[in-house]
Amino acid sequence: MNATDLLVLQHQTIQRLIERLASDGANRAGLLLELIEELLVHIAVEEEIFYPASQRAIDVSLRVHRAQHRRAKDIILHMATFGVDGRDFTEKLAELDEIVREHVDLEERGLLPEAAREMSAPQLHGLAARMHVLRASLTHPEKCKVSLDTDGPGRHLS
Ligand SMILES: [Fe+2]
Ligand SMILES: [Fe+2]
Repeated sequence: MNATDLLVLQHQTIQRLIERLASDGANRAGLLLELIEELLVHIAVEEEIFYPASQRAIDVSLRVHRAQHRRAKDIILHMATFGVDGRDFTEKLAELDEIVREHVDLEERGLLPEAAREMSAPQLHGLAARMHVLRASLTHPEKCKVSLDTDGPGRHLS
């Protein structure tokens, strides 16, 4: 799977979690935790890997994209602080839903296809591989400890 397909898949996961949180009675706290993780990891993957690569490939301003990320992060951190029983949970979820829809539209109709057109298939697959590694290092840091800690065999000897 290439980088843009991977990002679209992440968008779908995030939007499905928002829908389930808006409608499900069961396991809302668990769904909120999943949403927090998916959203924060997705934003990190884009800002650390896909956005810089896109800006090298095409002449594009990502100021609005980054501002929308900040807005979504503010909302999700508020939701994380007050939880599913927070007084304004429904209101915040609706706000998040709106900003995510707007942002996904902006990326899927603009940045993703435009950047993908200018990148080669190996480049897009290479980016996807880096995204997998970053995602794993954020969600399962214990599994990545060995590879991330390895600066060379002599590192712990001095
Ligand atoms: Fe995205
Ligand atoms: Fe984004």
